Amino acid sequence: MNQANQTDQTPTRVFLVTGASSGIGEAAARRLAREPGAHLILLARRRERLEALAAELNAAGGSASVVAADLTDNDAPALVAAVAERDHGRLDLLVNNAGVGGRGSFADSGFAEVQRTMRLNFEAPVRLTEALLPLLRRSAPSAVVNVASVAGRVGRPGTSAYSASKFALVGWSESLQLEERRRGVHVGLVVPGFVATEGFPQRELLAHRATRWMVSTTDKVADAIVDAGLHRKAERYVPRPWAVVPVLRVLLPGLYRRAVGGGRFTAAAGTGTGAAAEDDAASGQ
Ligand SMILES: NC(=O)c1ccc[n+]([C@@H]2O[C@H](COP(=O)([O-])OP(=O)(O)OC[C@H]3O[C@@H](n4cnc5c(N)ncnc54)[C@H](OP(=O)(O)O)[C@@H]3O)[C@@H](O)[C@H]2O)c1
Repeated sequence: MNQANQTDQTPTRVFLVTGASSGIGEAAARRLAREPGAHLILLARRRERLEALAAELNAAGGSASVVAADLTDNDAPALVAAVAERDHGRLDLLVNNAGVGGRGSFADSGFAEVQRTMRLNFEAPVRLTEALLPLLRRSAPSAVVNVASVAGRVGRPGTSAYSASKFALVGWSESLQLEERRRGVHVGLVVPGFVATEGFPQRELLAHRATRWMVSTTDKVADAIVDAGLHRKAERYVPRPWAVVPVLRVLLPGLYRRAVGGGRFTAAAGTGTGAAAEDDAASGQ
């Protein structure tokens, strides 16, 4: 619904999605734009992609604007907060979605890769949430959704930097959820398994009939983001059965280690969430 066309009975709700230029973030923006009274703030580095999406949403009767920023820049959080405050004076939902896969084994990629991955996957959402929390509190009931990963619940070979960043995001989110609920700011976690996107193409899983079923869609993650953000669910795995993986890891640790210790789930061999994506990401971004 266009802001200009909204009736007085439909107040504008402002939703900010990071990483909205592709994949899960783009799908989440499209899904959220269908909500009554929604205004989308689309954030990523590739301005032309964001402007094309905003134009499409606006032409379809929605309402969207663009902030092109690199979230690892020191001044990005303050800039985004200033825009949200100046243009809307409120924020109903922050979706911390932008992220990258880590590259290779720790022995090969070292601390530099851990630092690079942590900067976007953990520090950026923390810093952006810090900058926007006063506005979120003033807009309560409001919400933050952090897009984590099953790799933030269990480790696999070849994903150490990625897993470290997502484990950190999960732990921080769980504490923040308990801290902020009295202030009316809900903090929800979305925990996807494997989803085929630019940064995470999942080519190896898609290439085999035996594993193709494991790859989910960006639309399903977008629905989970709505559940966690607007319906205030604490945690949503995508697809839901992936919730069993961390349980198995705790109950049957030996079996888990044997299952993921090599072969198709080993990201270094070109499979799932994280490291495998990087070769493709290099050409896609
Ligand atoms: N796909 C999967 O299998 C999977 C599984 C579990 C979790 N996840 C998580 O889902 C989230 C989205 O990933 P995706 O699969 O949708 O990948 P994607 O299509 O590669 O999207 C990544 C997004 O992050 C943005 N981004 C990257 N670096 C940025 C920076 N420095 N500043 C601002 N924005 C930046 C990219 O836009 P620009 O390049 O335009 O900046 C892009 O919009 C990530 O957090 C990822 O860890 C994905």
